[in-house]
Parts: sequence; C-alpha cells; structure tokens
Amino acid sequence: MLNINNLTYRIQGRELFEDASVVLPTGSKTGFVGKNGTGKTTLFHLLQGHISADAGNVELNKKARIGAVAQEAPAGNESVLEVVMAADKERTALMAEAETATDPDRISEIYTRLADIDAYSAEARASSILKGSGFEQDRQNAPTHELSGGWRMRVALAGVLFSQPDLLLLDEPTNYLDLEGTLWLEKYLATYPYTVFMISHDRDLLNKSVNSIIHLEHKKLTFYKGNYDTFENTRRMQMELNNKGREKALDQWRICRSSLIASRPRQARPSRPSRA
Ligand SMILES: Nc1ncnc2c1ncn2[C@@H]1O[C@H](COP(=O)(O)OP(=O)(O)O)[C@@H](O)[C@H]1O
Ligand SMILES: [Mg+2]
Repeated sequence: MLNINNLTYRIQGRELFEDASVVLPTGSKTGFVGKNGTGKTTLFHLLQGHISADAGNVELNKKARIGAVAQEAPAGNESVLEVVMAADKERTALMAEAETATDPDRISEIYTRLADIDAYSAEARASSILKGSGFEQDRQNAPTHELSGGWRMRVALAGVLFSQPDLLLLDEPTNYLDLEGTLWLEKYLATYPYTVFMISHDRDLLNKSVNSIIHLEHKKLTFYKGNYDTFENTRRMQMELNNKGREKALDQWRICRSSLIASRPRQARPSRPSRA
C-alpha cells in the first residue's frame, strides 16, 4: 500500500526523519507510536503531499484513495448527515451527474458504479457511523454551525470513515471522542475493510484495533507485527538483550584490559637528573 523509502525531512534545521524506510502492507491496521514532538503528525502531512521530503520518497499505490480527518471542521447550514454523506466525493459527483446526464451509455455507467459503491445504502451507513460517534437521530439533522468545535471534529471524523478511503489516516482520533465513542471506534476499525494507519497513545484502542505497529524513534521508522502489548514485549526483550550484550562486552573488555596490564613490561623509572 505504502512504501517509505530513505526518507529525510528537516523542520527549521532540525531533522525529524533521517534515511527512514518502512513498508505498510495493504490491508494492515497499523498503529503509529513515538514520543510527542518526534514527527508523527509531520509524517502524515508528508504522506498527503502537504509538504515534501528533503530526501527519499513516499510511494503510494497510484489508485489508492488516501483519507484523513479534515483540519477545518465543517460549520455551515448543511445538516450533520448531509456533511458526512458529502464526504464521499465520488458518490456525490455521480449523483449530481445522474441528474443532468443525457447519454444513455453514460447514464448506465453511472448507475452501475453507484450500485458498485453501495450508494443506495449511503444514508443508512452514514447515520450508523454518526450514531456510533455519539449523534442521536435529531442531532444528525441539525446544521453543523450549531455544534461546538469538539462535535464538529466528530462530524469530520465520521465523514472520513464514511468515505472509506483505501488508506485511512487517523491522528489521535480519541482526542475528540468520549469513552463510548472510543469503544465504538475500536470495533469499527477492527472490521474496516481497507488499510488503517493511526497515531494514538490509547493502549486499549491499539490493542483492540490494530495488528501491527510502526515506531518512530531516533528519526527512524520500524515495523512490528502484532498489537501494542506485543510491540512493548518485543521492545523489552530487545533492550534486555542489548543490555546483556553490553554487559558481556564490558566483562570481556575488563578481562582483556587486566590481562594487558598484567602482561605489560614494567617501565624503568626515569633516573632523577643529578643536581649540578
Ligand atoms: N509548522 C511548523 N513549524 C515549525 N515547527 C514545527 C511545525 N510543525 C511541527 N513542528 C515541530 O516539529 C516537531 C514534530 O512535530 P509533530 O509532527 O507534530 O510531532 P508529533 O505528532 O510526533 O507529536 C515538533 O518539535 C514541532 O514543534
Ligand atoms: Mg501529533
């Protein structure tokens, strides 16, 4: 789905990625973890082409649709449900074209495609996603300008989930969900039919909805198979092995050093200069 090749990226002279490479397999559900301020959100901007790499590149399957939660949450007269449904751009365009098209071949193509993308169940699907994110039926029909910033972010999240991109990018989605919404998202992602790449610090979410982890550390990206607990165990074992390796090397160095000292010929003391 996604190949990151020898990526180097600097922000104001500071290197966030240095020759970093990783592959995100098609269909994987991958958590993206690393300390705050190390460059996770920046990588998402690179993947979406908002910014360009200083060296290396990002290869994305050409036909793949990439989707992320819009930074600008909607705040207009359209209803919550309308905004979410409009997030599926292809469906919206086809519906508009169907109303004006006159060529019978094109009309037939449009209806075939609409059936293929399950367009007729769109409203029910959008409504179910909204319900999961905490919108009861009456609030789904409210104009988005009536909502607070947090609820508008939920609309944006529901929109990207509804549009079902081939590569779904989520940046800390639980920041704008309550516990119930988070539990719903866990389940939703676990059965999401395409690739998911999600920044999160939520251990439960990462344990329940992803099957691999990409770790950003020391400007490099490393792929681990398994959920968050597996990742942590693997890391712990690696560190123990490294420590053991270091202790062993130190022991060897000490033995070697003492045998070197023991075998060194004693140097004759320089004779004192005689007083004149
Ligand atoms: N537009 C920007 N201008 C300058 N520095 C930035 C900008 N965006 C992010 N940074 C810096 O880049 C680093 C990585 O940021 P970010 O990708 O948001 O980290 P993360 O998502 O891992 O917490 C941080 O130190 C941040 O302060
Ligand atoms: Mg971030």
